[in-house]
Amino acid sequence: MSERVLVIGSNGQIGTELVAALRLQYGQSNVIASDLKLPLVANEPFATLDALDKTALYNLVKKENITIIYLLAAMLSATAEQQPAFAWKLNMESLFNVLELAKEKHIKQIYWPSSIAVFGPTTPRTNTPQYTIMEPSTIYGISKQTGERWCEWYYNKHQVDVRSLRYPGLISYTAAPGGGTTDYAVHIFYEARKNNTYTSFLDADTALPMLYMDDAIRATLEIMNADSSKIKIRSAYNIGGISFTPAQIATEIQKHIPNFTINYMPDFRQQIANSWPQSIDDSYASNDWGWKHKYNLQEIVGIMLANIK
Ligand code: NAD
Ligand code: SER
Repeated sequence: MSERVLVIGSNGQIGTELVAALRLQYGQSNVIASDLKLPLVANEPFATLDALDKTALYNLVKKENITIIYLLAAMLSATAEQQPAFAWKLNMESLFNVLELAKEKHIKQIYWPSSIAVFGPTTPRTNTPQYTIMEPSTIYGISKQTGERWCEWYYNKHQVDVRSLRYPGLISYTAAPGGGTTDYAVHIFYEARKNNTYTSFLDADTALPMLYMDDAIRATLEIMNADSSKIKIRSAYNIGGISFTPAQIATEIQKHIPNFTINYMPDFRQQIANSWPQSIDDSYASNDWGWKHKYNLQEIVGIMLANIK
């Protein structure tokens, strides 16, 4: 029998593309998309679901015979700083709801994304190792770091097959990003096309690790499809791709739009970015299950500008 997959938070930046990729793997009818509200474009099968509603989640899992859950619902770094109490509730309780379903053997596998936000200002910032000082200074980062510890605990104590990646900033054009500190690297393309200019909320020289969405989706499927014996880290794996600054991405855009200009008006997100790694050592993911990123900055800029009109 084919697996039955539930994606929670499917209308977002990652969910929009992950659902399509999962449907190629498992078949359209075996992947149930779900979110708080109906999607903007038809996305069947779809169920409205609040990840915080434990009973509704249980009922949906039973009704649809779900075996695997991808939990994407969360509040991201910038928004979470504005609503810390609710961000904590959403990011933690939704995870517990899913981990408990697996502990009680209602489902057999979980994917839950972590983030580079688990690192903090005391972490070595270049080529940040898998194992290092982790003192996150944002509510989002604290929730992801805590979530990682719970995932590992549920695996060790209850053999819950939960897998996770520490995504860097993700770049895509299918759905808008949902309130993160790395979102400038998506917004910049829309403003370049619309107004030939962009005002960055991060300073010119703020380097952050980034990944093109196709790479992120491939990494997600690769870790989930890998033999369990290869997944030696049950908190979350570092995955890296490229690393660039607002000034560097602007220079690359100028190769396509020569009169494009960029200004800098750093806001509260600058402090968040300053606390995160500039580049990531993902050698554990490479060694354990063969991870390797594909897209470089030049390719990403070309693809983004070709698809945003
Ligand atoms: P997003 O904000 O674009 O999408 C999240 C989706 O969850 C939205 O469609 C939203 O409606 C839905 N949602 C919110 N509350 C919900 C609830 N109570 N019940 C059901 N659905 C709810 O986020 P994203 O960028 O797609 O991120 C998905 C996951 O990946 C998050 O855990 C995020 O922390 C993580 N992540 C994302 C990035 C990135 O750059 N996009 C980087 C690192 C980690
Ligand atoms: N892209 C995410 C954010 O900026 C990183 O987790 O919040």
